[in-house]
Amino acid sequence: MASPKKDKAAAQNNIEVGEKDKEEKPKDVAVAQKDKEADKNDKAPAPLGNVLAIGLTAVGAAAGMYLLSKLASHTKSVPYAQSASDDIGINLNKWQHPVKDFSSADENLEDRLNSLECVGELDISQKVWDNATNLVDEVLDLLMVKMREQALKYEGLVFDGYRKQGSARDGLKIRSPDEFDVLLEYHIERLYVEPVPIVDFGIPRPGLGRMKILNEDCEIETQFATWIRRKIIVRDQDSYFLKARNLHQTVFESIMDKCLEKLSRITRQNISFRLIRSMNPPSVNLTITDIQREKGSLESFMDWLFTDEDDPDVIDIDVVPAMMIVTEKARGTSGFMPCPRYAVVKWMEESQTLASRFEDPSMTWRICTSGYEKHCMDMARNDKKKRYIMTACRIIKTFMSKERDKSRAGENHLYISTFLRSFYLKNITFYCMLFTESVTGVYQALGYFLGFLEISLEEECLPEFFHGNYLLDNDFPSCAVGGQVNLFGHVSPDTLINAKRSFKTVKSKLYNMFDESVLESSACQKFQNFVKSSK
Ligand SMILES: *[C@@H]1O[C@H](CO)[C@@H](O)[C@H](O)[C@H]1NC(C)=O
Ligand SMILES: *[C@@H]1O[C@H](CO)[C@@H](O)[C@H](O)[C@H]1NC(C)=O
Ligand SMILES: *[C@@H]1O[C@H](CO)[C@@H](O)[C@H](O)[C@H]1NC(C)=O
Ligand SMILES: *[C@@H]1O[C@H](CO)[C@@H](O)[C@H](O)[C@H]1NC(C)=O
Repeated sequence: MASPKKDKAAAQNNIEVGEKDKEEKPKDVAVAQKDKEADKNDKAPAPLGNVLAIGLTAVGAAAGMYLLSKLASHTKSVPYAQSASDDIGINLNKWQHPVKDFSSADENLEDRLNSLECVGELDISQKVWDNATNLVDEVLDLLMVKMREQALKYEGLVFDGYRKQGSARDGLKIRSPDEFDVLLEYHIERLYVEPVPIVDFGIPRPGLGRMKILNEDCEIETQFATWIRRKIIVRDQDSYFLKARNLHQTVFESIMDKCLEKLSRITRQNISFRLIRSMNPPSVNLTITDIQREKGSLESFMDWLFTDEDDPDVIDIDVVPAMMIVTEKARGTSGFMPCPRYAVVKWMEESQTLASRFEDPSMTWRICTSGYEKHCMDMARNDKKKRYIMTACRIIKTFMSKERDKSRAGENHLYISTFLRSFYLKNITFYCMLFTESVTGVYQALGYFLGFLEISLEEECLPEFFHGNYLLDNDFPSCAVGGQVNLFGHVSPDTLINAKRSFKTVKSKLYNMFDESVLESSACQKFQNFVKSSK
């Protein structure tokens, strides 16, 4: 049997966006919330005030990935595109079979990678994929029915649905379909909230906030009395706030437990499995385990007998409850479409070092804009150049994941693998898409990927792609506002030294699988300048 493979990472595919939130007037947020209601009633969306637009080109334009425009104003006359070609971003909510695309220039590269012990098979068979994704969808559907029953106990709480995300949604999953990530979208009817930044020694903490309630006090006290009694809505000085920790523990943990009591052992058709949960704020981890598939028909029995691939025997699903706070717009292939931003709970326990510096860590929320990432990845999957880069990303992810297996088994392993999380690799993927002009195949894409990675390590800096990216300044203002975040910023110098050292071994193990001499030096130079200027 395949053992559960952990390439843990894409759990919280969140971009942190900071100061922009501060600038939004409460009214706009309230409008955005009301918008959402309007949408449900099939009404045209109301103007979004100064909410900014994100535009993306369909193909990697010479100027970079983005062709962005800031709309002077939005009016009802700007329609959301609903054409089939815009089956991306918010319009798309499907798992994506992993991207693997080689070009004729790659010759037998795929076979050679396949025979490498440190990489091996890149495919996940369609059948195994369908089996796992169908099961996950079924479990989520079952759960939703139960959760909606439980939600009735909390005034105004509505579960809107799941939003698939993470590597299984982006097309970057590797090895086995054993891990899935979803946002569980919810809202509280008639409650209008706005994130307000957390200021730490006079400096706003990027992407973190407290959730202020905008309704009139008397309205809150009468309509949301039970929330106040349960200490989920709390007063601090002259405002009411939604308390992250209590919302998570009192509402989501308890709802999830009640649901799982009813769904612990499930038998559906020829599959039976067990569902267990653990809490890992902001997510609720679900594990589908003891999966037993009956080999009913002769056909499936023969299939089972003659395949060397196995369905995963354990599947993890990370469910992150998320509240939509604002809708931005993003350009699809034929017009503008909404691109939502979410707030997820992110309190810090007292034990965490940073926590003591906040007034009340249990009140902390994180603003996540995984919507941008999904939107970009969806466009990228329709572009050859970007598919080669995504394939390169999957190769390096696979490499690192296999090294981590060794580490887990107590064997010799490359140090860098425990440090290079998938999130970092995904950021590199975006930079490769942004800074390269043309990419002829995976041979070249892998060269860029490793080249960019090396630059980051040498510079000891990997700026988060969206946050404060001044290259997107004119066109992507909601991301470009605020400081940049160096993802290696908190990493100790020793760790970086060891990572750099073991990176050399990564390159030698992949000898002949990529070629640095076929790269345009200008692309690497541009990236290096960008990194240097971010420090
Ligand atoms: C829960 O999910 C997180 C993030 O996806 C993962 O790191 C952790 O190991 C999981 N915990 C359990 C108990 O499964
Ligand atoms: C899942 O796999 C089993 C065999 O392993 C097969 O019988 C069954 O048809 C598959 N189900 C789906 C939905 O693909
Ligand atoms: C379940 O098993 C029966 C035989 O036991 C078989 O006829 C049927 O096709 C199977 N159903 C699925 C969905 O695999
Ligand atoms: C970059 O990495 C950060 C932190 O690991 C992650 O939250 C974010 O989603 C990544 N961004 C992209 C564009 O992949």
